[in-house]
Amino acid sequence: MQIIAHRGASGDYPENTLLAIEQAIVQGADAIEIDVFAVDGELIVIHDHHLARTTNGSGSIYQYTIEQLMQLDAGRGQRIPTLWQVLQLLAPTSLWLNIELKGEDTVAPLLVLLDQAQRELHFDPNRLLISSFNHHLLADLKRQQPDLQLGALTACLAVDYAAFAQQLQAYSINCDVSFINQAFVTDAKARGLNVYVYTVDQADDIARLQQYGVDGIFSNYPARSKALLTDN
Ligand code: G3P
Ligand code: CA
Repeated sequence: MQIIAHRGASGDYPENTLLAIEQAIVQGADAIEIDVFAVDGELIVIHDHHLARTTNGSGSIYQYTIEQLMQLDAGRGQRIPTLWQVLQLLAPTSLWLNIELKGEDTVAPLLVLLDQAQRELHFDPNRLLISSFNHHLLADLKRQQPDLQLGALTACLAVDYAAFAQQLQAYSINCDVSFINQAFVTDAKARGLNVYVYTVDQADDIARLQQYGVDGIFSNYPARSKALLTDN
């Protein structure tokens, strides 16, 4: 079972910053998950469009220019990273990257940036998983770039999400730990989907999910969660 550092090693470092990602690499994570919005066509790494929770700014990211956003403190003197900076940081490593699309207008700039990353950083697109709760964005991406690996994010099991993800030709279904059960995992895997579960930091959940045979968990504490894995 793989350990995906949720917003980097965000339990101990400011979430979605280069510092949190560097520390997740040090902690032995297999992959990094980040959240992105687009501002003026530039993809930035932040979870909320409101600035107050994670920076010393206020209001919405859309009220500012990229230059102004780059002046903000995202914790411990860190800046809000661009997606390009994250791709540069991870390019020489073997980790894979899960980019969660938060903003509606992220698809076009993402495709441009991934093309640039492949040409200039030799970033293998197979090291990428693009996910979103907005399944229209994923369908749009699939139409434009059929080879991209997609993760269909689900917050509950109220509808038949695994069938939907299969129809979307997704690589994975990414589920909330509160709702997942063995039947769901078995069904998703029979449909050829990988199963990743968020956000998992508790020992009993880690043991249960390993038992279910899920492919990976999003953890805020990659080193600690990794240490709790039994041999697999
Ligand atoms: O991608 C898994 C998880 O990050 C989804 O929820 O709110 O933490 O972005 P959230
Ligand atoms: Ca996320």
